[in-house]
Amino acid sequence: MKFRGIHPFNDNWLFCPESVYETADDSNFTAVTLPHTNKIFPHHNFDDAEYQFISTYRKRFTLPAPLNGRRLFLDFEGAMLAATVTINDHTLDEHKGGYTPFSYDITDYIKEDGENLLTVHLDSRERHDIPPFGYVVDYMTFGGIYREVNLRYVPPVHIEKIFGRAYDVLTDHPRLEVDVWVKNQYDEEVSAGLIVGLSNYKINEDGSVNIDQTSLKTRLPANSTQKITVTLDHIGEVERWSLDNPICYYLGAQVGITPEEVDDIGTFAFGFREATFKDDGFYLNGERVQLRGLNRHQMFPYFGSAAPERLQRRDADIIKYELGCNIVRTSHYPQSRHFLDRCDEIGLLVLEEIPGWQHIGDEAWKQISIRDVQAMIERDRNHPSIIIWGVRVNESQDDTEFYTATNTLARELDPTRPTGGIRYIENSEFLEDVFTFNDFSNGVREPQHTPYMITEFNGHMFPTKSFDNEERRVEHALRHAKIQAQAATMGGVSGAIGWCAFDYNTHKEFGSGDRICYHGVMDIFRLPKYAAHFYASQIDPKERIVLQAATIWSMGDRSAGGNDPLTIFSNCDEVEIFAGKENYGRFTPDFANYPNLPHPPFTITGLGMRWGEAFGDLRVIAYLNGQAVAEQQVACDGQPVALILKSDDDELRADGMDMTRIVFKIVEQYGNPLPYVTEVISFEVDGPAELIGTNPFPLIGGSAALYLRAGHDAGEVKITARTSRFDPVTITVKIG
Ligand code: GAL
Repeated sequence: MKFRGIHPFNDNWLFCPESVYETADDSNFTAVTLPHTNKIFPHHNFDDAEYQFISTYRKRFTLPAPLNGRRLFLDFEGAMLAATVTINDHTLDEHKGGYTPFSYDITDYIKEDGENLLTVHLDSRERHDIPPFGYVVDYMTFGGIYREVNLRYVPPVHIEKIFGRAYDVLTDHPRLEVDVWVKNQYDEEVSAGLIVGLSNYKINEDGSVNIDQTSLKTRLPANSTQKITVTLDHIGEVERWSLDNPICYYLGAQVGITPEEVDDIGTFAFGFREATFKDDGFYLNGERVQLRGLNRHQMFPYFGSAAPERLQRRDADIIKYELGCNIVRTSHYPQSRHFLDRCDEIGLLVLEEIPGWQHIGDEAWKQISIRDVQAMIERDRNHPSIIIWGVRVNESQDDTEFYTATNTLARELDPTRPTGGIRYIENSEFLEDVFTFNDFSNGVREPQHTPYMITEFNGHMFPTKSFDNEERRVEHALRHAKIQAQAATMGGVSGAIGWCAFDYNTHKEFGSGDRICYHGVMDIFRLPKYAAHFYASQIDPKERIVLQAATIWSMGDRSAGGNDPLTIFSNCDEVEIFAGKENYGRFTPDFANYPNLPHPPFTITGLGMRWGEAFGDLRVIAYLNGQAVAEQQVACDGQPVALILKSDDDELRADGMDMTRIVFKIVEQYGNPLPYVTEVISFEVDGPAELIGTNPFPLIGGSAALYLRAGHDAGEVKITARTSRFDPVTITVKIG
């Protein structure tokens, strides 16, 4: 009998936006489902002070299953910023820190029969004793129990942690070393049997093929945790985890003292890959891969960081499939496990780093940071997608003792991955394995040390809104193109991770005064700017043809007017340009200015199109190997002709937390959004779901989004959008 049981614990919470105690009546609370944000906002123009308060979460529950001698743990995946948990009458130690998981053994405080009362006092203020705070921070840290909670039943002898390391991956005989931490919570020594196994990815859990397994007997002293290391060396040939073929196997362990008392840690994805930073660049499975990526903040419009699994996974898909990146940096903290799981599944490499931003606090603060190194690595070291740990507070000053400690700990906890420490100070102390540098020179500096990687560029040097004028939006895109090209050209630069994937909410010391940093290649709704099309155009055309003219094809939007030069992002070999009836000929990518990119932008000059002259619609035909494969047209008199409403998903789970994005845009006759259209759009929703976002929405940038959150009932949801100019549009989403 398997004795472990994990029960999602996200439903039927009560929330009160104040600090209240057990005596307060439930009528002070509202019912909520986790992940939860302590306040819903408009997507901009609000004050961070509004989420900085202490709130109270309450949950009344009876045990979902009898204890039967098991221990019961309450596992929080993340709550912002400091949580004090009380179970019945027992208050547990405050957990400080919003980005790493925490857990309590609540067995001794629980009522096995009858109702239990769980209370969480959550302090979401910017407390200077907890990273990242102490000075200013360029991102908002929305409050709430914004990640999931689980109840975990385990036998007194159970598996606490497991860590698998693959060796000799490039040979025919890879070997797996697995550390298993077994905890004995009995007051006496016991003898236990341990089995560790690797199974085939191709078959589901019931019928999985056991590739290799090993078993042993061990004695476990009373009330202790033992680390046991086993080797699996009869694995045979394996398929390697790679960017194009991210094959995962499953690794698992089971421990028991009797057949009735067996704990099983289940199986989790495990990939065989060799990832190495060398002086001349990054290698995956022995092959040099130029890293091209973007930074990701975890926040979303309206509901801050409280995004459910589907949206976390979708962000990884956007970065890999819409933006063609091969790496993401989880700036500036560990992110949702759902995001990382998806990175494993789709083959998107990750640089994960500890929480913090420029500031280092006192000794107690540093101890929290060191604990964060441990929590991050222990949670995530089995993810094949993660290739490097960031163990410095982003862009902080040198601190030899502190960073010697973080590096030593990281290497001890994970001898298989290099450390990095993200810095902007030239010649700062190099205690890490890879020199990871934020280069804001609008070029690429000579590496000061190798191995070397650029971890930020652009950002505040060139903020760009979706509704800025065309020349700025094009320049923004070309800055990304130029730096990616230079990074690929300069020997020894493993890659460049641009700032950043998505616009994000920030404090008043940063951003455009409306509490947004417009630094994304996509806006806060994950809708593309031209820079996003540059990244997309690096995708292999075998996967997807990309063709996007970076223009609204007007004659007077740029300084001094005209439409020359014209920039086009495409992964095709040639583009042919027409304006009205006039054929301007065929053009090839601009390798001269953007060498070593898989697909440089096309810079079309010589059109001679000037302000005040007659012109026709733009038509671009893209050719691959001489064949026309794509066409785009842009109207020369961009009139709004339709309101488009689209859901990213047709169906959501009826779990009270599942969400999808509902995009709306006003387009011209060829379907291109019109960035300067301002229309008020109002929405109605009919069915078991809720729309989250500003409603009515005064459109900005030609396109935006609201989010649909499922309720607990199945059914069909109709969403209708209305404007004064067009017929209403209705779409349907199923809740199942
Ligand atoms: C960097 C910082 C980022 C962001 C960026 C804007 O210095 O690490 O978090 O603020 O600047 O360009």
